[in-house]
Amino acid sequence: MRRDFDFLVIGSGIAGLSFALEAAKAGTVCVVTKDRLPEGSSQYAQGGVATVWSPDDSFASHAADTERAGAGLCHREIVDLVIREGPERVREMIARGTRFSLRPDAEDAYDVDLGLEGGHSKRRILHALDATGREMMRALVEAVTAHPKIRVLERHIAVDLIASSKFDLPGPERCWGAYLLDVDSERLTVCAARSTLLATGGAGKVYLYTSNPDVASGDGVAMAFRAGVPIANMEFIQFHPTCLYHPKAKSFLVSETVRGEGGTLVRPDGSRFMPEYDERAELAPRDVVARAIDQEMKLHGFDNVFLDVTHCDPVFLEKRFPTILARCRAFGIDPLEEPIPVVPAAHYTCGGVGTDESGRTPLPGLYAAGEVAMTGLHGANRLASNSLLEGLVFGRRAAEDAASRLAEVAPVPKGIPDWNPGRARTSDEAVLITQKWDEIRRLMWNYVGIVRSDRRLGRARGRMDVILEEIERDYWDFLPTADLIELRNLATVADVIIASASHRRESRGLHFNVDCPEPSDRWQRDTVLVRDPSTHRPVPA
Ligand code: FAD
Ligand code: SIN
Repeated sequence: MRRDFDFLVIGSGIAGLSFALEAAKAGTVCVVTKDRLPEGSSQYAQGGVATVWSPDDSFASHAADTERAGAGLCHREIVDLVIREGPERVREMIARGTRFSLRPDAEDAYDVDLGLEGGHSKRRILHALDATGREMMRALVEAVTAHPKIRVLERHIAVDLIASSKFDLPGPERCWGAYLLDVDSERLTVCAARSTLLATGGAGKVYLYTSNPDVASGDGVAMAFRAGVPIANMEFIQFHPTCLYHPKAKSFLVSETVRGEGGTLVRPDGSRFMPEYDERAELAPRDVVARAIDQEMKLHGFDNVFLDVTHCDPVFLEKRFPTILARCRAFGIDPLEEPIPVVPAAHYTCGGVGTDESGRTPLPGLYAAGEVAMTGLHGANRLASNSLLEGLVFGRRAAEDAASRLAEVAPVPKGIPDWNPGRARTSDEAVLITQKWDEIRRLMWNYVGIVRSDRRLGRARGRMDVILEEIERDYWDFLPTADLIELRNLATVADVIIASASHRRESRGLHFNVDCPEPSDRWQRDTVLVRDPSTHRPVPA
């Protein structure tokens, strides 16, 4: 079975839906999403969206903060364009119906309250209390589902991109859509399109502990890698310092804005430690805070540290952080009475599919936007709340570019073959998948985590040699299921992260290797890897 559209959007987060609404002005759009429509990191965003809004802020100040966090690897022209276009994109979200929290004497929906987060020198975080992503996604989902030219396919997972050279299709090299698996019926189909956007989000699930939802298995990076597209800066994985530590709390974040409003980090004996690590204390950028917590835990053998807000105004806390307070209380912790147990967890993938200022990848017809992309905005470390902004800006830019080229793109060729199942049969052994899934996530956490070393990276590479070989065999022996597809992607992404981290012989931003602990001018450049056509493993481009 084959479906045809002008634009295929893989992923329904802030980047994918922003693209869809803009592209639908020019043609037909299919949004494919592997779970239900709002599921993805976007809807869990707490802190908010950073943009220059108040008269005492400036583009120069937001750019300087972004570049300071990015530790020498931000692409200056990209930082500039994102920060300058930011306010307009955010205004559009308000016009679409997003209700950000307002100042007490606000005159209209644009008179918003501005929050503060680590690394920002000004208050510039627009937020909807502590559930900003949920509110922004509500507005986007309503607009997309009401749009006559946008078709949404829920519970469909994109398996692989369709590139002309791979299937001997006529004409120059181009991406013509993707193979999809219907998760419920397990049927494979072709979704043909003249332009395709990867908006599949991040890869937090590669790590044992993560703030990310289950869908964040790095599928877009893996699909692009298999299609020969360069992947950049995957060693820069951001660990959020404060995820709730409780055996039953799966990936719940305690927003950085809690520290912005006076929360302090303390040891189990109640003593504060951040001033010993950085003069900005709790408001240092997250890599500094996460490493300090990691060091405290390893040095003293703590299972976790604590985020203390018991000294803050309880009336303000109840009003400002209702989601966080409710979630903590559901686990028997009342933050007004006792410090919140927290640990760092993998949070954001700074690297990804390399794109230009219009979200274009080097494969014609293929775009990437949002967390899956490496645009150059974040460099070696993302400044808090810059990613919702990046999704809005590049979702729109990519759609404008794709729409402007539509007339010059030929119709999709007829000869796209159906998925070839080969000798594959149905697998009856789920344990083959769960065992490897656990193994990858644990080895990434232990060997390729917040602090790395040459020895640990070597160990990780050795283990991945075996795991990848087994997964490749299972993949072609068994008919694809969503779990098998995600496992294969997770393994590919882990391999690319390990190769990127091993390649960079210095420490910079989020990448810290005890065997080369200083930054080096020689390495002030992006790490760009491609798939070696014979070994299928990542090598420098
Ligand atoms: P996502 O919103 O993650 O969406 C990805 C989509 O792709 C999902 O719909 C998923 O189902 C789909 N998908 C994936 N693979 C496939 C496939 N193979 N086939 C089909 N569909 C697929 N950033 C900020 O700027 N401010 C914040 O306050 C903030 N808070 C955060 C809090 C949490 C808990 C988390 C996890 C992240 C936070 N971030 C924040 C980061 C930010 O939310 C994400 O970077 C951003 O939302 C990513 O948007 P996206 O559109 O790229 O991807
Ligand atoms: C948070 O609220 O701490 C998350 C902000 C972000 O990831 O940008």
